[in-house]
Amino acid sequence: MASTTPSTLRWGIIATGGISTRFSEDLLVDPSTRDVSDVTHKITAVGSRSVAGAQKFIDKLKASEGVSAWGVKNGVLDDAKPCGSYDDVFADANVDAVYIGTPHTFHHANAKAALLAGKHVLCEKPFTFDLAELDELIAIAKEKKVFLMEAVWTRFHPIAYAVQDVLKSGKLGQVKRMFADFSMNFEPDTRPDDNRMIDPEQGGGSLLDQGPYPSVWCMLALHQHPDNKDKDPQVVSSYQRIYERSGVDAMSHWIVEWKGFAEARCLTDMTASGLSEATAVITCQEADLVIDYPPWRPESFSIVPHSGGEPGSIKEKTTFKHTVHAGGGMHYEADEVARCIRDGKLESSRMPLSESRVTQGWLDAVRKQGNTVLKDRKSTAGN
Ligand SMILES: NC(=O)c1ccc[n+]([C@@H]2O[C@H](COP(=O)([O-])OP(=O)(O)OC[C@H]3O[C@@H](n4cnc5c(N)ncnc54)[C@H](OP(=O)(O)O)[C@@H]3O)[C@@H](O)[C@H]2O)c1
Repeated sequence: MASTTPSTLRWGIIATGGISTRFSEDLLVDPSTRDVSDVTHKITAVGSRSVAGAQKFIDKLKASEGVSAWGVKNGVLDDAKPCGSYDDVFADANVDAVYIGTPHTFHHANAKAALLAGKHVLCEKPFTFDLAELDELIAIAKEKKVFLMEAVWTRFHPIAYAVQDVLKSGKLGQVKRMFADFSMNFEPDTRPDDNRMIDPEQGGGSLLDQGPYPSVWCMLALHQHPDNKDKDPQVVSSYQRIYERSGVDAMSHWIVEWKGFAEARCLTDMTASGLSEATAVITCQEADLVIDYPPWRPESFSIVPHSGGEPGSIKEKTTFKHTVHAGGGMHYEADEVARCIRDGKLESSRMPLSESRVTQGWLDAVRKQGNTVLKDRKSTAGN
């Protein structure tokens, strides 16, 4: 049988902070450890605000141990060029796709420059500061005929598919409502003013940073449910608690309605811990489906009978484990990007732009209904 040569995607990494490090480390993991043989990855450029910063990042990756050492030995970093500006990466002919790992308020400008240079783009969550910025990116990507996706890695995890399979199987009966929470005590008082969770200029607060995670479970469980017909679910109620030191939100709470189908209550909080055994609870006719913490990378969920005496045919609790393969779990979304680009697709059917628009719209609605310093912040769309 003829063996097929895997398609290699050449990445340019923008910014050298925490998440760029984790994403790049996952590009260094042997794809065969997750049963992938059709795509591979290379890092061909790293962009930082200083060339020394980019070089330091590459050097650190080259010293990787554990599962990422495979990529170092197998040439993933061999052509990695340190760039002292993001524009140098966008202009690099050896870069196919750009990964954007800057703070939220820079996503629009950085992604726009990459798209205008003709690069495919994977942009960290939240996609942009507001919907107008996202719409501009989508228009440019369409015009330039390049791929664009929000880096919502959790959607590609084994558990995400497994949860949907259970809901689609119908064994839990009708879906009635859900609750999804990303609370985590970041201890904001201990952080400096320029920390991106605190600083309004970087889009600080819980909503923009944590909000995309409750949305993951809402979209997979409710929005994509075969019984849902409402493709434009709206925020019908919201509340934000102000973090007085910088005026961003410490906590946000909102309800979304899928007309004629179900409602979701969503919560983000950077000042208190979330429930350790339930990051999302999907209430169904026959039992509840409960997804364990953490919201960004859960590895187990349970089907839990309703409380004693309540109707519901399921009487035994069952727990299902779906562990992430070797690495942090960001490689699945990277594989998706590589496959889409290989196949000439301009968006992913697993993380479609229309769904990013829906969840970005929720963030806008909650922010505009609230009273933080970001409430009326000017969009950078058009700039
Ligand atoms: N998917 C996930 O699980 C996940 C997790 C964490 C964060 N994120 C997202 O990733 C983005 C970055 O988060 P992070 O935790 O990696 O942030 P971070 O550690 O603070 O890194 C951000 C990087 O952006 C660059 N940058 C450019 N302009 C900047 C400015 N004015 N101030 C500060 N940094 C600037 C810097 O890199 P250079 O100096 O090299 O230019 C900096 O290292 C956020 O949008 C966040 O929502 C996603």
